[in-house]
Amino acid sequence: MGNPLVLASGIWGTSGLLLVRAAKSGAGAVTSKSCSLQPREGHKNPTIVLLDGYVLNAVGLSNPGAKTEVEELAEAKKGCLKEGVPVIASIFARSVEEFAQAAQIVMEAKPDAIELNMSCPNVGSEGRMFACVSEDAAKVVVAVKNVCSVPVFAKLTPNVTDIVEVAKAVEEAGADGIVAINTMPGMLIDAKARRPILSNREGGLSGAALKPIALRAVYSVSREVEIPIIGTGGVMSGLDAVEMLMAGASAVGVGSAISYRKNALGEIRDELFAFMKENGYSKISGLKLQE
Ligand SMILES: Cc1cc2nc3c(=O)[nH]c(=O)nc-3n(C[C@H](O)[C@H](O)[C@H](O)COP(=O)(O)O)c2cc1C
Repeated sequence: MGNPLVLASGIWGTSGLLLVRAAKSGAGAVTSKSCSLQPREGHKNPTIVLLDGYVLNAVGLSNPGAKTEVEELAEAKKGCLKEGVPVIASIFARSVEEFAQAAQIVMEAKPDAIELNMSCPNVGSEGRMFACVSEDAAKVVVAVKNVCSVPVFAKLTPNVTDIVEVAKAVEEAGADGIVAINTMPGMLIDAKARRPILSNREGGLSGAALKPIALRAVYSVSREVEIPIIGTGGVMSGLDAVEMLMAGASAVGVGSAISYRKNALGEIRDELFAFMKENGYSKISGLKLQE
């Protein structure tokens, strides 16, 4: 990677061409929107609320299904290769078996890595969060590793008693990396209308408000596992990216910032490198907390 920024899943990564655009605009790697074995419509509008300080979304994992996603990923791969930017294909599923099947299908597009979204709060009653139970998370990793020849990353939720326990379980199961974190469950109410704002009533919280939760998760996990972490959650500026790297991340996911800044990826990258220059850091790996 030319820089440590990774376009987070679900934001901008809904088509091959958008992934290429993210690569051109400054991402060091890009992640596609999570896809499932079968197509999904997602929730009805309103699905996203964008406020000062945070985003609440319940898009509902709308996607065209793994078979169609392969075409988008192949297009992304072609364009991103020219930019020297790796493509991470994100998948989610209702069962361990479906995770493996979806992985096999998206592998046809030859992504550089597979991300297992086992932590989206927007799956409703038909799905369950595999990342809430260490044994379940580990089973998904083992099943996907069995059918994949590329690195496999497990995306975790902070909404558990002990994220470190889940991180250790996926590492032991063979995960090559961890993505921490996904959104936190949340809700907003329109008092005058006396209704929840999102049609799904509840959604996932992201953006600036998520940063302290993400930093703490990355910090705790990085002290207990050897595999690299893509630290994701609330990174809106170069300084936020520095903090995420200091917390123990090897790379930094950028999602919601794209809705707030015109050229978020390019600007955050430039701010990160400017901070390093001004403060005498020559390598990303030098961004560490004091002992
Ligand atoms: C509109 C929206 C859609 C998202 N869709 C996905 C998704 O499809 N798969 C996934 O793993 N995460 C998804 N996420 C979560 C992000 O990838 C990321 O983990 C989270 O938003 C925290 O990072 P941020 O604060 O930089 O946005 C989505 C987030 C938002 C705001």
